[in-house]
Amino acid sequence: MSKTVLVTGGAGFIGSNYCRYILQNRPDDRVVILDALTYAGNLSTIADMQSNPATAGRIKFYPGKIQDEVVVNGVIEAEKVDYIVNFAAESHNDKSILEPGSFIQTDVYGVFVLLDATKRHNLERMLHVSTDEVYGTIDNGQFTENSPIEPNTPYSASKAGGEMQVRAHVITYGTPALTTRCGNNYGAYQYPEKLIPFFVTRLMDDKKVPLYGAGNQVRDWVYVFDHCAGIDRVLHDGKIGEAYNIGSEGERTNLEITHALLRLLGKPESLVKHIPDPRGGAHDKRYSVNADKLRALGWKPAHNFEETLEQTVRWYVDNQSWWREITAKPDYQAFIARFYGKYLGEDL
Ligand code: NAD
Ligand code: TYD
Repeated sequence: MSKTVLVTGGAGFIGSNYCRYILQNRPDDRVVILDALTYAGNLSTIADMQSNPATAGRIKFYPGKIQDEVVVNGVIEAEKVDYIVNFAAESHNDKSILEPGSFIQTDVYGVFVLLDATKRHNLERMLHVSTDEVYGTIDNGQFTENSPIEPNTPYSASKAGGEMQVRAHVITYGTPALTTRCGNNYGAYQYPEKLIPFFVTRLMDDKKVPLYGAGNQVRDWVYVFDHCAGIDRVLHDGKIGEAYNIGSEGERTNLEITHALLRLLGKPESLVKHIPDPRGGAHDKRYSVNADKLRALGWKPAHNFEETLEQTVRWYVDNQSWWREITAKPDYQAFIARFYGKYLGEDL
């Protein structure tokens, strides 16, 4: 039976790839995007789906904030929404250190509005996309879904706050909501502020890349379509009220990632600038989650890291108009200058 999925934050990196995932893998379903088009959301990120005659009739875009209950409830009624999958968020740790307030608005209050609308309209399910960062850092072993929630940055604390809203609404009102917690994603259409696209786009222009400290922090890198497949599995087969980790056993240090990017782009080591860690004590050393609970639902990562990293780098090489439009904007350049200026100096 045909379903209508409201994808909030669908003009961002992972949300847009989830729309692509639905259009490819659930041929009967429609996608409705609600996105505030903050600095991180761009209509160019969803233009391929809107202009392709094979998919154009199954995707619709609304501008708006998830905190705006009039807009959220209006879209749900107008489009007869069945499910909400919430990607809308302020999502960058470094920005959260400079401007934590907007994170609370979107990542906590916005989640409440979506939960309230889910209950009010008797929607089938709402899936809240969270992050492995809510657990904080772990030196050895892996976090399970029962590990304590101990966020260390304003970003991860705001995501934990959204999760607590989900938990409370399930228990208090019986709202049919679920949560996923994934590791760091990479792939096409990622905004060039996060490690991989930031470094790729700078290296392509022979600009120095700022590696925090020695670069020995560890992240579990998940290809974006594996994340999307995991979300889709939890949306349809997960148990209401439960959280599911999504991880690829793809742990790598930032230094390893940096060297892989230099190799793929044929650039010299001299472009790497080790800078004093701007996150200081808030910089989580290692993220690692155990995804057995999701694997028990039949999901497993389907992509090889080296192959998909190479494809990702090639995507940025082949789609320069997409990211050059972003990096040319005054707000992008102002953030880079404000955050990195004192570290990169004349290498900015
Ligand atoms: P992103 O920053 O690329 O995209 C966020 C999107 O949300 C943008 O299109 C933006 O315009 C929109 N948005 C922001 N505030 C909004 C608001 N108030 N109302 C409506 N739309 C709003 O982020 P992303 O990397 O695609 O991450 C998506 C989600 O996945 C986030 O919730 C993030 O916490 C989570 N997540 C990200 C990663 C990662 O590695 N990027 C890993 C795990 C979980
Ligand atoms: P990031 O992509 O911002 O994701 P997260 O903070 O959610 O893990 O950063 C990934 C890692 O890369 C993190 O340990 C910080 C580091 N990093 C750098 O060393 N230099 C950079 O310029 C950026 C953006 C990140």
